[in-house]
Amino acid sequence: MRLTVFLAALLLPAAALADAPWGKADPRLGKALHDRSCIACHARLYGGDGSKMYTRPGRLVTNPRELLQRVAACNAMTKAGWIPKQESAVAAWLNQQYYRFDQ
Ligand code: HEC
Repeated sequence: MRLTVFLAALLLPAAALADAPWGKADPRLGKALHDRSCIACHARLYGGDGSKMYTRPGRLVTNPRELLQRVAACNAMTKAGWIPKQESAVAAWLNQQYYRFDQ
């Protein structure tokens, strides 16, 4: 019994990774979408390619769920017109490139 609990605890991080809220979305598709609709404004605020928005100290997003929610909110705010699958792809790309919650 104890051993089972111990093993379950060991496996938990792997399970969390498999359950990333963006599933198996393609980060490459997300990069193209993000480049088109999101960079200009972030770059105006932070200079360069705007990526400092995602790497600055005290950044807002602290877990995968918040990342996907934030992408969805920005999609709505900017009227980018993405379907959920596209929001997932952008979240997957931002995670792969900057947030790295699953590393
Ligand atoms: C009109 C300007 C503007 C556009 C366009 C914009 N953003 Fe943002 N974004 C902001 C601002 C301002 C913040 C910081 C909000 C704050 O600090 O309270 C932000 C923050 C974020 C964050 C959180 C960064 C952190 O602190 O962890 C994410 C993720 C994000 N934006 C994604 C997107 C995506 C995806 C798009 C394209 C659909 C987008 N943004 C388009 C202005 C913009």
